[in-house]
Amino acid sequence: MNAAEQSRYLAAMGIPVWRPKAEMALPVAIEVLEPPTQAHTPMPESLHLATLADEPAIITPHSKSVEVPSSAKAQIISSADLDWEALQQAVSTCTRCSLAKTRTKTVFGTGHVQADWLIVGEAPGADEDRQGEPFVGRAGQLLTSMLAAIGLQREQVYILNMLKCRPPNNRDPSVEEVTLCRGYLERQIELIQPKLILVVGRIAAQHLLNTDAPLGRLRGQVHTLPSTKTPVVVTYHPAYLLRKPLDKRKAWQDLQIARQLTQTWS
Ligand code: URA
Repeated sequence: MNAAEQSRYLAAMGIPVWRPKAEMALPVAIEVLEPPTQAHTPMPESLHLATLADEPAIITPHSKSVEVPSSAKAQIISSADLDWEALQQAVSTCTRCSLAKTRTKTVFGTGHVQADWLIVGEAPGADEDRQGEPFVGRAGQLLTSMLAAIGLQREQVYILNMLKCRPPNNRDPSVEEVTLCRGYLERQIELIQPKLILVVGRIAAQHLLNTDAPLGRLRGQVHTLPSTKTPVVVTYHPAYLLRKPLDKRKAWQDLQIARQLTQTWS
């Protein structure tokens, strides 16, 4: 991706794009920094806040585990013996929970099945339920821009949701639904073997990391998925960022943390 394209994507994310003084047509009173020149550019200095360590700290444990209410009788149902095709088939015909009655299509996931990056969202919305693909609505467009801003096309990553069916009226998933669906997610992670998981949104992050810590405490650092030891970076859900564009700056920081991790890959 060239600098002009990346600038467009950053602009689409609502991240100010800095240009060298000479290029600035207007004498606007903003900080002047080097513009991004390549797909993988250093984080602009002004975004390199004191709270952001150069070497992301690996943190665990979390404050408190999410408690599963005793009313939720669900147990994680393992899909450990299924290959990719069988797993897709199992999801497409799943009737483990009542969402099977209200969904239009299941949403298994999309992208490169051997991707280094796995993006985990919460659950399909109305557009995804209709099309059977994750993140295809407005939030999905912003997610695409966020990825593009760090030089990633959707086809290079794998994108999926914790839940494979839409909760009616976009309500939060219940613990039971998440638990019943979790075996699919775990098998997807085992088969994809990503080097990095980027989780968008509080609900997916809390369930994946088994914590009730608020998103503000989960973002901005690197976690480890207990089962596979995969590094996990948490950031805001793009739907939230559409409502609170000022937090896009923090999301950009999180993306930079994730990107920094890729520099340790061989
Ligand atoms: N929100 C999500 O978490 N996932 C989608 O696929 C769409 C919206």
